[in-house]
Amino acid sequence: MLNLDLSGRRALICGASQGIGAATASTLADCGATVTLLSRNKERLAAVHQTLPGDGHDLLALDLGDPAALADGLENLSDRHYHILIHNSGGPPAGRAIDAHPDEFEVGFHQHLIAGQRLAQALVPGMREAGYGRIVNIISTSVKEPIPGLGVSNTVRGAVAAWAKTLSRELGPDGITVNNVLPGFTETPRLDSLVAGKAKSQDTSEDQVQKTMLAGVPLGRFCKPEETAAAIAFLCSPLAGYITGINLPVDGGRLGSL
Ligand SMILES: NC(=O)c1ccc[n+]([C@@H]2O[C@H](COP(=O)([O-])OP(=O)(O)OC[C@H]3O[C@@H](n4cnc5c(N)ncnc54)[C@H](OP(=O)(O)O)[C@@H]3O)[C@@H](O)[C@H]2O)c1
Repeated sequence: MLNLDLSGRRALICGASQGIGAATASTLADCGATVTLLSRNKERLAAVHQTLPGDGHDLLALDLGDPAALADGLENLSDRHYHILIHNSGGPPAGRAIDAHPDEFEVGFHQHLIAGQRLAQALVPGMREAGYGRIVNIISTSVKEPIPGLGVSNTVRGAVAAWAKTLSRELGPDGITVNNVLPGFTETPRLDSLVAGKAKSQDTSEDQVQKTMLAGVPLGRFCKPEETAAAIAFLCSPLAGYITGINLPVDGGRLGSL
């Protein structure tokens, strides 16, 4: 029998107020996990919290891009015994690398790489104690093929992928796996704003922008956040116990590389 049961497991899910993070919270709770939802907006987190199956779930309003607030928030967590960490948040703003102010890189590194490091350092001791740990980073297909017009994102995501691979080798002996999920075009508020932005800058319709995007996706449609969440749930489950250090694209076949 395939075992996706996460009963008795606690999961900290970042970027959980909408999109892929919210879908992941719902799926992991469906599998029996007790989840803590983390993002900046307390009201939106509370709305997601209300929809979760099961009980014992809670929420934490924190800005992953604010190093002091994150350090404080993690220090003050009443119980840092989590089995699962979903490291996720919003992507850096679009633009070419050459045009980005150096500070934009600093902001991106704080929100993505350094926040991940703080989260891992806070939670790994509990995972070690439990002899069960799953760290899943939600990054981007840009770690395999940099995406034009996402200069800061491409750079920061590559660093997160290298950090995750390094961690996977360091933490394997503790029974902790570290993997990356690389979403393709996924129907979330981020995709909506991306499409609207492109339509405006190219002086065309949102329909046309979507058609052009989908022309490069062999499966010919956008991904549902629940489909990304299913892949994440698999990586968090006992079934995926021998999978660590990988990049898993959930992109409908869009990446041209192996
Ligand atoms: N959707 C796609 O097509 C796609 C494709 C490739 C890669 N990705 C990447 O996958 C990740 C998730 O995508 P998504 O589409 O679900 O994004 P989304 O709809 O923009 O949601 C991002 C989530 O992260 C939270 N967040 C943003 N900044 C934060 C911060 N500083 N601290 C804490 N939480 C923060 C947001 O909540 P609050 O506002 O409440 O903080 C929200 O819950 C992103 O990194 C995105 O770039 C997405």
